[in-house]
Amino acid sequence: MNLSLQLLLLLTLTVRTVLTGGYYEYWVDECLSSSSALTDVEYIRTIYFNKDPYARFNSTVGEFVGFSEYGVNQAKYWNSLPYLQQMRGALESYCKNNLRNDFSVVLEKAVRPRVELKAEQQYSGGHTAMLMCSAYDFYPQAIDVYWQRDGKKVTTDVTATEELADGDWYYQVHSHLEYTPRSGERISCVVEHASFSEPMVYDWDPSLPDSERNKIAIGASGLVLGIILSAAGFIYYKKKSSGRILVPS
Ligand SMILES: *[C@@H]1O[C@H](CO)[C@@H](O)[C@H](O)[C@H]1NC(C)=O
Repeated sequence: MNLSLQLLLLLTLTVRTVLTGGYYEYWVDECLSSSSALTDVEYIRTIYFNKDPYARFNSTVGEFVGFSEYGVNQAKYWNSLPYLQQMRGALESYCKNNLRNDFSVVLEKAVRPRVELKAEQQYSGGHTAMLMCSAYDFYPQAIDVYWQRDGKKVTTDVTATEELADGDWYYQVHSHLEYTPRSGERISCVVEHASFSEPMVYDWDPSLPDSERNKIAIGASGLVLGIILSAAGFIYYKKKSSGRILVPS
C-alpha cells in the first residue's frame, strides 16, 4: 500500500459520515476508571469499519493493535506517526480531564436513598421467613444492595429487582432475602451508593414494629369482645329457654 493511500485512510477516520446503504468508518473513544481517585484510568480508542472493529489503541498497552491483516498493517503505520504521541497524551488531556469534571459535576448531584427494611413473610413451620430491603429516591442509578448474616455476605436465596426509574430522575430498587432464622443472629441489609462515603449497614430488628403490635392488639380485643358477646348471648338464651319451661301452661 503506498503512503498517500494510507494517509487518505487516516483522514477518512476523522470524517464520520453515515451513508444510507453505504459504508461506515468510525471510532469510539472510551475512558474507564474503577474509582473517583482516577488511579487506574484507561483510554481506549476502537476503530471500526461498518460494525467490525479492526484496530484499537489501549493506553495501558501504549500503542495501536490490529485485529485483522488490514488492521495489523494500519496499527503498524499509525504507531510510526506523531499521531501515536497524541494518543498517548489523551489519557491525561482527554480522559482524566473529562472524568474529573464528571466526578465533580455529576456526583455532587448524588441523592441518598431512603432505605426501608421490613418482613414480607414471618417464619412458621413450613415457611421460611422473608425480608425486603428497599432503597427509594436515589440518584444516580448505580447502587449495590446486598445482605449480611453476622457480618458475612449472603449470596444464596436473594432476589432483587433492577433499578427502577421513577420517571423523575430518581430510582428505586428492592431486594428480598429468604431465610430460616437462627437465634441470636444479626441480619443486615447493606447499601453502597455514590452518595455515601462508606457502605451503610441497616440491621434487621426482629421485634415487631408498632404497626404489627397494633394489629395484634386490635385482633385480640376483637376476639375478647366476641367471646364476651357470645357468652352473654348464650346466657341470655339459656335464661329465656329455662324461663319458658318454668311458665305454667
Ligand atoms: C487494555 O490492556 C490491558 C493490558 O493488556 C488489559 O488488561 C485491558 O483489559 C485492556 N482494556 C481493554 C478495554 O481492552
